[in-house]
Amino acid sequence: MEAAVPLGGRISGPRLAVMLGSWRQGSRQGAADLAAAIELQVLDGQLPLGTRLPAERELADALGASRTLIGAALDRLRENGFVASRRGAGSWVAAPGRRRRGPLAPAGGGSIDFTHASSPAIAGTAAAVDTARVRLADHLGDHGYQERGLLGLRERIARRYTERGLPTTPAQVMVTNGAHHAFVLVLRMLAGPGDRVLVEQPTYPNALEAIRAAHAIPVPVALDPSGERGWDIAGVDAALRQASPRFAYLVVDFQNPTGLRLDTGGRERLGAVLSRARTPVVVDETLVELDLEGDPLAGPPPLAAFAGDLAICVGSASKTHWGGLRLGWIRASEDLLGRLVSARYAVDLGSPVFEQLVLTELLDDESALTRRREELRGYRDALAGAVREHLPDWTFALPEGGLSLWCRMPEPVSSRLAVAAASHGVQVAPGSRFGVHGGLERWIRLPFSLPPETMEQAVRRLRTAEASVRGTPESLAAPIA
Ligand SMILES: Cc1ncc(COP(=O)(O)O)c(C=O)c1O
Repeated sequence: MEAAVPLGGRISGPRLAVMLGSWRQGSRQGAADLAAAIELQVLDGQLPLGTRLPAERELADALGASRTLIGAALDRLRENGFVASRRGAGSWVAAPGRRRRGPLAPAGGGSIDFTHASSPAIAGTAAAVDTARVRLADHLGDHGYQERGLLGLRERIARRYTERGLPTTPAQVMVTNGAHHAFVLVLRMLAGPGDRVLVEQPTYPNALEAIRAAHAIPVPVALDPSGERGWDIAGVDAALRQASPRFAYLVVDFQNPTGLRLDTGGRERLGAVLSRARTPVVVDETLVELDLEGDPLAGPPPLAAFAGDLAICVGSASKTHWGGLRLGWIRASEDLLGRLVSARYAVDLGSPVFEQLVLTELLDDESALTRRREELRGYRDALAGAVREHLPDWTFALPEGGLSLWCRMPEPVSSRLAVAAASHGVQVAPGSRFGVHGGLERWIRLPFSLPPETMEQAVRRLRTAEASVRGTPESLAAPIA
């Protein structure tokens, strides 16, 4: 029986080309890579089931590829069950489960989520909730709208910045619903359609999503995760001059995904370059407290200490305490913060009081965070050991903090590996997720926030998936037009 034609929307060739980014970079197997890039979009929910795909010729034109290659990619997608077609009705996205090759239910347990670099709630959360419930009584008589956040919480956040070398008052802090919310608020205030935003490459994918959703244009400056250099400060300087971005978005502490950290000298130079250009910088410090080697207070001072009054810090309780609290903050000059508070009214009217009370309690218990750091250090070393043992030709620089290993593979197969891994029971984020235009196919991010046995199992499954990808018959390859 022929497949029924669904009533889903249609995606145009140019739109699909934008979603796929530079899937061809480094590719030796055009059709297989294109199919994998489309499968990833389906698995991510970006291409909903039933979406009608462009005709072969339209897609070939949009991608600048031959029709032979498009045809081969569609054959592969049909074979894997991701696409169904009917003569005269075209092709559409299908549910992959039924015809997909490979073991969908791997031996040794269910699927492992290796996409989130995040830990469960920190020890003591339940007790903090109990205390907060008692404290809540003091607030029930107020209207509850606190667009800047509870004073007690802002005092603690301000004190921490001051301790780290950036004198701060509570009037310079606004509590937000997580660091991502904070970033989106700043983005709304600083950039509009067509504006440029300087970013590191690779960088945090949701920031890229937000920049694109605001119709702004991310301008990447490459990091060098394998060398000693890390940040290319001359490259940032050149990009500031050439692209005149509205602001720069930088993650200089245990960067996601590379784990790199900029040293004090680098911060001085980077801060000077940004101040000279009078370019605001949004410094994302979501991971700064996850220093796995030393005392976080002994680390380099915040970049904002060197970048002048246009620096805006974004912080979060998600990685230190719990993502489910949905709490973060912005630290800026009083002038900028006042403007941000006004801009916030267009989006929301403050963060929940109860969660802020819980976080205030949690911040009082530094020992729990110390234990979390120790645990994560063990997790990091366990993951590094598993990769060295099972995937010995992958390389990485052991990060001193953060939550992920950024691994370089001998072949540019990251997207195909991510797709194959899903059918071997591991969800993993390929390098292309972290690039402005995709690419980064030699790289893959492995988080170390799961228990060591689970990570070991995930790495074993990745090894099997990698072998299946590398064993892809060359006959599937087609020349790129
Ligand atoms: C660099 C970076 N910024 C922001 C976020 C989002 O944090 P939040 O949960 O506070 O919104 C993350 C989460 O992974 C991150 O790694």
